[in-house]
Amino acid sequence: MEREKAIPLIKVPPPGPNARKWAQFHKMYAAHSTYFYDFIWDRSKPAIGPFCTDVDGNIMMDFVSHVGSSPLGYNHPNLVEVAKKIATIDPDRYAGTDFIGAFGEDPIDCPIATPSHLHHKLVEISQQFGFGSAFLSNSGAEAVENAIKICYDYRRNFGYGFCFYGAFHGRTLGALSLNRSKKVHRNWYPEIPKIVELPFCRCQQQCDCGWKIYSIRRKGVISRLAQVLDPDIGLIDPEEVAYIIIEPILGEGGYDIANPEFIREVAEIAHREGIPLIADEIQSGLGRTGRWWAVEHFGVVPDIIASAKALRVGATIGKSTFFPREEKRISSTWGEGNAISSAVGYQIIQTIQEEDLLKNAEEMGNYFLSGLRQLHSRFPVIHDVRGLGLMDAISVETDDLRNRVIQGAFQKGLLLASCGFESIRFLPPLNVTQREIDIALNILEDVFSEILT
Ligand SMILES: Cc1ncc(COP(=O)(O)O)c(C=O)c1O
Repeated sequence: MEREKAIPLIKVPPPGPNARKWAQFHKMYAAHSTYFYDFIWDRSKPAIGPFCTDVDGNIMMDFVSHVGSSPLGYNHPNLVEVAKKIATIDPDRYAGTDFIGAFGEDPIDCPIATPSHLHHKLVEISQQFGFGSAFLSNSGAEAVENAIKICYDYRRNFGYGFCFYGAFHGRTLGALSLNRSKKVHRNWYPEIPKIVELPFCRCQQQCDCGWKIYSIRRKGVISRLAQVLDPDIGLIDPEEVAYIIIEPILGEGGYDIANPEFIREVAEIAHREGIPLIADEIQSGLGRTGRWWAVEHFGVVPDIIASAKALRVGATIGKSTFFPREEKRISSTWGEGNAISSAVGYQIIQTIQEEDLLKNAEEMGNYFLSGLRQLHSRFPVIHDVRGLGLMDAISVETDDLRNRVIQGAFQKGLLLASCGFESIRFLPPLNVTQREIDIALNILEDVFSEILT
């Protein structure tokens, strides 16, 4: 398959007979989960960039990139090469917090990156925040769990955790206690105590989300965070707060971008009060928005970042002073011992650097957004277009319409995903080209025309 010439090509309307066969086979014993439609990627068939082949031979264009976890698309030669070099060594996962895994005699002259090298790389791309420590784990949820554990340990106050409406931080019990996007994530699961949610302000003009309130006592408008922590009228002493955790751009919750003033005030209050600020960049980080970390767009300096997805391993990265001094406080069998994923994660960062993909994400993101805005002007059922770099979304009038658009695109060979309640998210690979974006825009145009006529 040649990327430059590939186009989505539907031979059999998906899901075709083989896709149905695989779906039935898989779902016979697989637990119910979040399967949205029966797109079945055939890993044995050609795939490159955003293009891949399904089990019925359809060529699909993937603008979800496995929810951002395949940031260079399919089969990037650098990644295939790295995996090939170490795939023959077993075990590929080892007890990495008990034994350090090396490759050769000298870490400086090492042909394959190890988890140790990945720490160095993560610290390098976070030097603007003064970060000096990293801990690798298996998933985004674990990266969040470790971030909050580090903060509870640092604060020694069994304290409050502040999160925001619309947030999604993962599925393990600690992380899901911080979720505020959909009740299905939390219903009937026990939670960690003392979690306080605050409005996530994405207001563009007048703030009407509840973040700003009029305080009679203060005789003026103040933010909800300032009110909660106010020494006279507040209900919580800042000393009792273990952390504030925020996604600079809501992911699962709807791709809403934080109002810059809002997120800066959150950071300013956190730093003033000595409360650790965690940025959950599991979806928005690692170049997706055209910067290494989305918080950079707002001039915000977090104390800790949770990363995963595009990195292929979970990572909790931060200022060294926040990490536990005591041994055995954080650990994970495979976290620091995931040889293939860590080498691939390292190579992903290296490739983003070598191929100048932050710039591409910014430029192609602007190009894509302007195309989406043109669609918006032609189809008023599109309510909103928003995004930063290649983390983009549209909202339509109803969730039913949203689902029909996603299904319609699927039938034409374009893979998309939902977020929030009426939104469609776009996460093409960071090396996406203008030609590929034009193909996606044309398909969307056809889908909207067909649905609305
Ligand atoms: C912002 C954010 N945080 C945390 C997570 C959890 O990551 P994982 O599914 O790897 O546990 C996700 C996953 O969608 C996410 O988008």
